[in-house]
Amino acid sequence: MITVENVSKTFTLHNQAAAVIPVMEGASLQVAPGECVALVGASGAGKSTLMRMLYGNYLAASGRIQIGDVDVASAAPREILDLRRHVLGYVSQFLRVVPRVPTLEVVAEPLLVTGVAQDPAFDRARGLLARLNIPERLWSLSPTTFSGGEQQRVNIARGFAYDYPALLLDEPTASLDATNRAIVLDMIHAAKARGAAIVGIFHDDAARAQVCDREIDVAGFAPRDAA
Ligand SMILES: Nc1ncnc2c1ncn2[C@@H]1O[C@H](COP(=O)(O)OP(=O)(O)OP(=O)(O)O)[C@@H](O)[C@H]1O
Ligand SMILES: [Mg+2]
Repeated sequence: MITVENVSKTFTLHNQAAAVIPVMEGASLQVAPGECVALVGASGAGKSTLMRMLYGNYLAASGRIQIGDVDVASAAPREILDLRRHVLGYVSQFLRVVPRVPTLEVVAEPLLVTGVAQDPAFDRARGLLARLNIPERLWSLSPTTFSGGEQQRVNIARGFAYDYPALLLDEPTASLDATNRAIVLDMIHAAKARGAAIVGIFHDDAARAQVCDREIDVAGFAPRDAA
């Protein structure tokens, strides 16, 4: 479902004498449907960078990033938007939302944009928010003022609203209490059981061990000419 081949990435710092920083070279990995693969490696090794390249937020300098039948590394912007609608979900580390949009709508939106009718979309959103213990009195408010853990759970509800065949999870359990952490791990298990291919970053070793089938150390993708 996900095939990464020989991907490299450099950052050019235009505001710092155009310094060119190589961060990754020869990154390759494969994730099959129903499998969860963990990206591991020291802080700064490039885990989030690789995940952002998979999502098409960062452009790869070279290589191939095949997700379903789209090569994210060379796809046109509208192909990437279409992929994000129907194939590739992403739970980023921090929730980013348009101010004043109610939580219920934030969660239902991925369904609404794929053409699901309002009633089933909002029903599903309510079900996810309830399951993730977001108090009902908050559903009509914007999540911008929510606590860190509440925002993270809204982000997870949104990321799991649509049954994406491929899913990227950046630290989905980082600021959760034990109860909610267990619920999220259950949701990841269920996504695997329905055949989702998942790439995850988990600083929590126990959480990673519970849901991931394999680990890939991004230190193996360190550029050779970097100090
Ligand atoms: N937009 C950017 N511009 C310049 N350098 C960047 C940018 N994004 C990431 N980097 C650099 O790329 C390297 C990898 O960063 P990345 O965020 O991928 O690390 P990480 O493995 O996710 O670390 P952590 O575990 O701390 O989240 C770092 O040296 C970082 O400074
Ligand atoms: Mg990171």
